[in-house]
Parts: sequence; C-alpha cells; structure tokens
Amino acid sequence: MFRLKARWLLPSFLFCLVLSRDLPAQKLPEASSGPSVSWQYLAASPPGDYTGPERCRSCHKPEFAEFNKTVHARLAAPGKDYITGCEVCHGPGKAHSGAVEAARGDDQKIAAALKQFPIFAFRANPQENAARCLTCHITSNQQDSFAHSEHAAHGLSCNQCHATHLVDEIKDQSKGGLTYPQAYFFQVPKLADEVRWLHNSLLKRSEPEACYTCHRTIEAQFALPVHHRVPEGLMKCTDCHSPHSSLNRASLNKPYWETCVKCHVEKRGPYVFEHPAVKVEGCVICHNPHGNTNRMLLVRREGRQLCLQCHTAFHGQLGVPHGRLGFAPGGECVRCHVAVHGSNWDENFLR
Ligand code: HEC
Ligand code: HEC
Ligand code: HEC
Ligand code: HEC
Ligand code: HEC
Ligand code: HEC
Ligand code: HEC
Ligand code: HEC
Ligand code: HEC
Ligand code: HEC
Repeated sequence: MFRLKARWLLPSFLFCLVLSRDLPAQKLPEASSGPSVSWQYLAASPPGDYTGPERCRSCHKPEFAEFNKTVHARLAAPGKDYITGCEVCHGPGKAHSGAVEAARGDDQKIAAALKQFPIFAFRANPQENAARCLTCHITSNQQDSFAHSEHAAHGLSCNQCHATHLVDEIKDQSKGGLTYPQAYFFQVPKLADEVRWLHNSLLKRSEPEACYTCHRTIEAQFALPVHHRVPEGLMKCTDCHSPHSSLNRASLNKPYWETCVKCHVEKRGPYVFEHPAVKVEGCVICHNPHGNTNRMLLVRREGRQLCLQCHTAFHGQLGVPHGRLGFAPGGECVRCHVAVHGSNWDENFLR
C-alpha cells in the first residue's frame, strides 16, 4: 500500500510542476461551483488589433468604473490573454482609440473617426447583439435556447434587460412606478440603486419593473386587488417564468401545474382520488396566475359557474347538478366538495 503511493510520488510531483507552469492564474472570484459559462471568443482578429482596457479608461471613465465592479471585469482569456476587459464584447478597439486620440478633441474629426473606425456598440440588430453574449453564455440551458424564445422572435436581445456597465439607469431613483398605496405598504427594503444591479444578475432594473416596461397589461393584472405579491417585491416574475426561454407554454419554468406546486406543495398529491381538472387542465383552468378581482384568484366570481364550466351534464340533465339525488344544491359547490384539489378519503371530494 505504502509502496504504491511512494511509486506515484515523483510522477505526480512532476505533473503538478508542469500544470502549475502552464495554467493561467485563477482570476475568477471564488465560487462554490464552477462557472456556468463556456469560454469562447468572437472570430479572432489579429492580436495587434487589441489594445487593453486601460486605454479605454482614459476616455470612458464611467463605463470603466461601473464595469470594473462586475464579474466580467475579472475574466481572463485562456490562451488569448490579449483579449481582456472591454474588448471581450466590443471587439478590437485599437483603431478606434487611435483615431479618436488623433482627432484631439475636435468634434468634427471625432465624428469622422468614429465613422471610419466604428466600434461595436450594441446598436446592431438583435441577433447580432445577442450573439456577442452568446459566444460565452451557451452552456446554460436557458440562454442556449434564447434564439427560440418569444422574446428573441420579437426582437429582444440580452442588452435590453442586462447592462454590463450601468451608467444611465443608476441615476434613476424612481421607485419603478408603484402607484397604489398597497404596493408601498408591502414593499420590502430594496438595495440602493447604485449597487442593486450588481446583485441582481446585472439587470438594468429590478423585477418586476424590468418586465413592466413592456408588459403593461400584466402590470395591470397585478394591480388588481387579489394577486400574487409580485408588485410588493415578495415574488418575482421569474419564480414562474424563464426570461430567456423554456419549452413550456408561456415560457414557464416547469410544465404548467408543476410551476405552481413548487410553492403550493400540498396541492401536488398524488391523491387516491385525483380531480382530473387539476392535473389534466392545470391550475389555470380555475385560477388566474397573475391577479384578478375574485377571491382566491378564481377565474369566475361565482364558484358554481366555475364548476359548471365542465360539470354540465349529470346523467343527461343538462345544467342541473344533483338532479339525480333529488336536490338542486344552491350556493358554492365547495361548500360540500371541500377537497376540490383531490382527496385521499372521498371520491366525490366531500372531505
Ligand atoms: C468572454 C465571455 C463572456 C461574454 C462575451 C459575456 N459573458 Fe457574461 N459572464 C461570463 C462569465 C465567465 C460569467 C461568470 C459566470 C459564473 O460565475 O458562473 C458571466 C456572468 C454573467 C452574468 C451574471 C452576473 C452575476 O453577477 O450574476 C450576467 C447577467 C451576464 N454574464 C450577462 C452577459 C451579457 C448580457 C453579455 C453580453 C452583453 C455577456 N454576459 C457577455 C462570460 C461572458
Ligand atoms: C481617445 C479617447 C477614446 C479612447 C481611448 C476610446 N474611446 Fe471609445 N469613444 C470615444 C469617443 C469620443 C466616442 C464618441 C462619443 C461617445 O459615445 O461617448 C467613443 C465611442 C465609443 C463607443 C460607442 C460607439 C458608437 O457607435 O456609439 C464605444 C462602444 C466605445 N467608444 C468603446 C471603446 C472601447 C472598448 C475602447 C478601448 C478599446 C475605447 N472606446 C477607447 C473616445 C475614446
Ligand atoms: C460583457 C460585455 C461588455 C463588456 C465587457 C463591455 N461592454 Fe460596453 N457595452 C456593452 C453593451 C451590452 C452595451 C450597450 C448598452 C445598452 O444597451 O444599454 C455597451 C455600450 C457601451 C458604450 C456605448 C454607450 C452608448 O453611448 O450607447 C460604451 C462607450 C462602452 N460600452 C464602453 C465600454 C468600456 C470602456 C468597456 C471596458 C471598461 C466596456 N464597454 C466593456 C457590453 C459590454
Ligand atoms: C426579458 C429580459 C431578459 C433578457 C432578454 C435576457 N435576460 Fe438574462 N436574465 C433576466 C432576468 C430577469 C434574470 C434573473 C433571473 C432570476 O433572478 O431568477 C436573468 C439572469 C441572467 C443570468 C444569470 C443567471 C443565470 O441564468 O445564469 C445570465 C448569465 C443571463 N441572464 C444572461 C443572459 C443572456 C446571455 C441573454 C441573451 C441571450 C439574456 N440574459 C437575455 C432577464 C433577461
Ligand atoms: C423590451 C420589451 C420586453 C421586456 C423588457 C420583457 N418582455 Fe416579455 N415579451 C415581450 C414581447 C414583445 C413578447 C411577445 C408578445 C406577447 O406575448 O405579449 C413577450 C412575451 C413574454 C412571455 C410569453 C412567452 C410565450 O412563450 O408566450 C412571457 C412569459 C414574458 N414575455 C415574460 C417576461 C418577463 C418575466 C420579463 C422580465 C424579466 C419580460 N418578459 C420582459 C417583450 C418584453
Ligand atoms: C404565480 C406564477 C406566475 C407569476 C408570478 C407570473 N406569471 Fe405570467 N403566467 C403564469 C402562467 C401560469 C401563465 C399561463 C397562463 C395561461 O396559460 O393561460 C402566464 C402567462 C403569462 C404571459 C403570456 C400570456 C398573457 O397573459 O399575455 C405573459 C406575457 C406573462 N405571463 C408575463 C408575466 C410577467 C411580466 C410577470 C411578472 C410581472 C408574470 N408573468 C408573473 C404564471 C405566472
Ligand atoms: C414562488 C412561490 C409561488 C408560486 C410558484 C405560486 N404561488 Fe400561489 N401563492 C404564493 C404565496 C406566497 C401566496 C399567498 C399570497 C398572499 O397571501 O398574498 C399564494 C397564494 C395563492 C392563491 C390564493 C390567493 C388568496 O387570495 O388566498 C392561489 C389560488 C394561488 N396562489 C394559486 C397559484 C397558482 C395557480 C400558481 C401557478 C400558476 C401559483 N399559485 C404559483 C406563492 C406561490
Ligand atoms: C377545478 C378548479 C380548480 C383547480 C383546477 C385548482 N383549484 Fe385551487 N381552488 C379552487 C377553488 C374553488 C378554491 C377555493 C376553495 C375554498 O373556497 O375553500 C381553490 C383554492 C386554492 C388555494 C387557496 C386555498 C387553499 O386551499 O390553500 C390555493 C393556494 C390553490 N387553490 C392552489 C391551486 C393550485 C396550485 C392548483 C393546481 C395544482 C389549483 N389550485 C387547481 C379550484 C381549483
Ligand atoms: C376543467 C373541467 C372541470 C372543472 C372546471 C371542474 N371539474 Fe370536477 N371533474 C372534472 C372531470 C373530468 C372529472 C372526472 C369525471 C369522471 O371521472 O367521470 C371531475 C370529477 C369531479 C368529481 C368527482 C365525481 C366523479 O365523477 O368522479 C367531483 C365531486 C367534482 N369533479 C367536483 C367539482 C367541483 C366542485 C368543481 C368546481 C370547484 C369542479 N369539479 C370543476 C372536470 C372538471
Ligand atoms: C349540499 C352539498 C352539495 C353541494 C352544494 C354540491 N354537491 Fe355535489 N355532491 C354532493 C354529495 C353528497 C355527492 C355524493 C352523492 C353520491 O354519493 O352519490 C355529490 C356528488 C357530486 C358529483 C358526483 C356525482 C356523480 O354523478 O358522479 C359531482 C360531479 C358533483 N357533486 C358536482 C357538484 C357541483 C358542480 C356542484 C355545484 C354546482 C355541487 N356538486 C354542489 C353534495 C353537494
């Protein structure tokens, strides 16, 4: 046993020696799990076209300062360490820097220089913009299939929601358009805007404001009296939806009713007597996921109508429930059928 170890001692020592010489220094911050990102670079230009982030700093101070707080600023390119910092996304910038420097502050010359030596500024079409990020962010399932999402189909790209150096938005101190008193009442303290985005997947705005900018109808739904507490900041759109993409309807994180039982675990079952409405049609056949004016987010104000959507025909007697039993019960069906999500005791969900 001991001899076996000794025999391996020298080779492994040499192996480590070799490794320690060839590996680039570990520059990412410590993480409990490795990065979710694969390392790839844009179609490489010759090393001489790059100039390094220090040069950019001389003219783009705010971008540089904000960018340096992010994880991207600590990326080191294995084997291509001339591609660092800004040029990872913006591409080679030596020509741009040189041309603007040569203009010596003359506005007209600068404009001409920018035209002659353009630098990529995420003003291209959405696919090209997203492609810059997707060179690296292709190993996470969700971003990987972003191209197939409704968002991509409608011309969104990564930089519509994310910022890698938030310069303009951090000055915006608005509370994101929360207008009704209830929302203020429940609002949990948020991080200061200056640092918030760093702890928030580099989002330009926090959820739900990030989503409300476009989804005004959904905002209106959440403003209704009965709603999941998204506007109060206790829940996020992304608790249910993937912002990037998913194979599920409405880009839900999980196939429909499973999205809900992640939190409402007691509705998961399995029950001895399942109500097919729950697991076949899914929760949204009876509940509105966002908000409405009915108690418990029910899609119908009158509980009876909810059930009578499906339970119309009782042994041929259309619309007359329990006619067979000799009584026509009034009021809410759940008065008696209390275990409407499923029961382990009673096939008619009476308990
Ligand atoms: C050169 C490769 C590369 C490019 C290009 C790149 N990223 Fe990243 N990104 C990374 C790495 C590596 C991480 C760290 C991942 C980790 O720690 O798991 C990261 C992290 C992130 C994070 C998470 C930050 C956090 O603090 O939670 C976001 C958001 C992000 N990138 C968005 C983008 C966007 C948007 C673009 C395009 C504008 C982009 N990235 C371009 C490599 C890249
Ligand atoms: C000598 C000063 C100078 C240097 C160095 C410099 N830039 Fe610029 N850059 C400018 C000026 C001036 C503009 C035009 C005004 C503006 O948008 O702020 C500009 C514009 C840009 C734009 C927007 C282009 C557009 O079409 O709107 C990007 C992106 C950019 N620079 C990135 C970089 C990067 C990355 C580096 C380092 C590789 C860099 N710059 C180095 C002065 C400089
Ligand atoms: C991870 C990718 C990434 C890196 C790295 C990066 N940027 Fe950017 N940059 C962007 C994106 C995305 C935009 C577009 C911003 C938007 O859509 O809000 C942008 C826009 C800009 C602009 C133009 C702002 C305008 O007027 O529209 C400048 C200037 C700029 N970046 C400079 C820099 C400098 C300087 C660095 C290095 C310190 C840097 N960038 C590093 C992604 C990056
Ligand atoms: C519609 C807005 C939106 C768009 C477009 C978008 N994202 Fe995101 N992204 C988000 C939100 C919101 C989160 C935070 C999710 C959470 O906290 O649950 C996030 C999280 C992330 C993260 C960190 C968490 C993770 O999944 O690793 C990365 C990296 C990221 N996005 C990259 C990208 C890239 C790359 C693109 C473009 C292909 C992109 N995003 C497009 C909204 C968006
Ligand atoms: C820049 C505008 C914009 C922003 C910001 C935005 N969306 Fe969208 N979103 C759209 C458009 C456009 C569609 C497609 C039309 C529609 O379904 O309303 C869409 C569709 C969706 C869908 C339906 C997808 C499907 O497969 O049917 C969901 C879910 C969604 N967005 C969630 C979000 C979330 C969550 C956020 C915030 C992280 C967000 N969106 C931010 C523009 C945006
Ligand atoms: C409790 C889970 C949940 C939350 C939180 C949630 N959604 Fe949804 N959302 C759903 C479900 C479930 C559907 C599918 C409804 C259907 O199939 O009829 C949906 C559908 C959608 C759709 C497409 C259908 C439509 O009504 O236009 C959009 C867009 C959308 N949600 C956006 C958002 C935005 C934006 C937020 C945050 C402000 C959000 N959702 C928060 C569960 C949720
Ligand atoms: C992230 C966790 C989470 C997810 C996912 C979730 N919910 Fe909820 N739900 C809650 C919380 C927390 C409450 C209690 C909210 C309150 O008291 O304001 C709640 C309340 C409810 C209520 C009762 C409302 C009331 O007035 O008492 C219904 C019905 C409901 N959710 C249905 C759903 C449906 C349907 C889905 C799937 C589309 C879903 N939930 C997904 C957390 C969640
Ligand atoms: C057949 C219609 C129907 C379906 C499908 C349905 N529910 Fe319900 N749900 C109701 C009714 C009716 C109530 C009100 C019960 C009452 O008044 O006691 C309710 C109440 C609730 C409540 C609040 C009271 C409680 O029991 O905790 C939650 C949470 C809830 N449902 C979640 C869900 C989830 C999650 C799903 C999907 C797995 C789902 N519901 C599917 C009809 C339905
Ligand atoms: C989306 C359609 C749908 C809705 C809405 C619905 N159900 Fe059902 N329900 C069914 C189906 C399908 C069955 C199974 C019928 C069978 O097995 O013959 C069922 C079975 C039942 C049963 C068990 C009796 C049996 O025949 O197995 C009861 C009791 C019941 N539902 C009550 C309700 C009540 C109360 C409501 C309103 C809160 C409701 N249902 C709403 C579709 C629905
Ligand atoms: C007063 C209590 C009460 C009310 C209210 C009530 N039910 Fe029932 N329901 C019962 C009882 C008790 C049974 C079981 C009868 C049996 O064992 O044959 C039953 C059985 C059923 C069955 C299964 C019967 C069959 O033919 O298989 C369905 C479906 C049903 N109810 C639907 C409804 C609907 C829909 C409503 C609301 C419109 C409703 N019930 C209101 C007490 C009630």
